[in-house]
Amino acid sequence: MRHFLSLAQVTREQFDHLLDVAFLLRKQREQNKPNDPVLAHRTLAMIFEKPSLRTRVSFEQAMLELGGHAIRLGWEEVGLGKREHPADVARVLSGMVHGIMARVYEHQKLIDLAEYSQVPVINALSDESHPCQALADVMTVMDEFGRDVSGRTLVFIGDGNNVAHSLAMACGTLGMRFVLASPPGYELHPRFVDRIKSHHPGLDFRTTHDSREAVAQADAVYTDTWVSMGQEDEKEKRRAVFADYQINEALLKAAPDHAIVLHCLPAYRGVEITDAVIDGPRSRVFPQAHNRLHAQKGLLAVLMGGA
Ligand code: CP
Ligand code: NVA
Repeated sequence: MRHFLSLAQVTREQFDHLLDVAFLLRKQREQNKPNDPVLAHRTLAMIFEKPSLRTRVSFEQAMLELGGHAIRLGWEEVGLGKREHPADVARVLSGMVHGIMARVYEHQKLIDLAEYSQVPVINALSDESHPCQALADVMTVMDEFGRDVSGRTLVFIGDGNNVAHSLAMACGTLGMRFVLASPPGYELHPRFVDRIKSHHPGLDFRTTHDSREAVAQADAVYTDTWVSMGQEDEKEKRRAVFADYQINEALLKAAPDHAIVLHCLPAYRGVEITDAVIDGPRSRVFPQAHNRLHAQKGLLAVLMGGA
């Protein structure tokens, strides 16, 4: 695995190895043992075209805990594709740092970076996918149900967006069932569905417009904002269209008692999820956010440290 742009390019063996390393590094941290400095004298450049809390802090902290260093580059300084072509940015950074992570609007910019980079390129969220988030999500499901999650059902309520796309791909890799409950017109893009099915022909994947029916078989119920970064102009329209797809206590009455609730955050409380749910007994939302650190450490140790 040279780059980490999409879970479509990660085999089951590679996925398992990433998780093994992430869980091991987490265990060491929980036991107050410092991790080996496998990234000593190594630097990660982090390019952000959009805001971030979890992704920025988890990667920067991960580099620190593995003995390395991170440089944050904001959209106002790099101008990826505006001030400078991604190919030139990749060529320059390749001679100075040991890894590049980027959060971009157009996924194509990641592909361009990777094509011209001599160092690993990591997708820190694009309009297509959010594979780093899916790694942490899978860890959280495993924390609840054990390492073998095959046959478990993840139900995603809301927009068929970048987060849903990566989750569906992760479910395919791990043999989980994936159900998307979305309003008509907001399903996963057919291009993504084709890609998921071509990589995972055996994936039990279905779409419904009925969230109550969807959660009935859920082991994990997941949601994300209805208005992703870059869609702010559609906020009013989307909030009206998605109004019946909120995760609230009434909906969760239709779910099995053991079902947990996940959200990648940031959450719009009272919109796609209620306070009672996100702060309630089924919520694993904050351990899920903390798993971003451990997942990113596993990823960086493998990609940049040869773990
Ligand atoms: N979930 C996630 O990626 O959060 P940030 O946008 O804050 O990085
Ligand atoms: N779908 C959201 C995820 C945020 C972490 C977005 O792209 O804004």
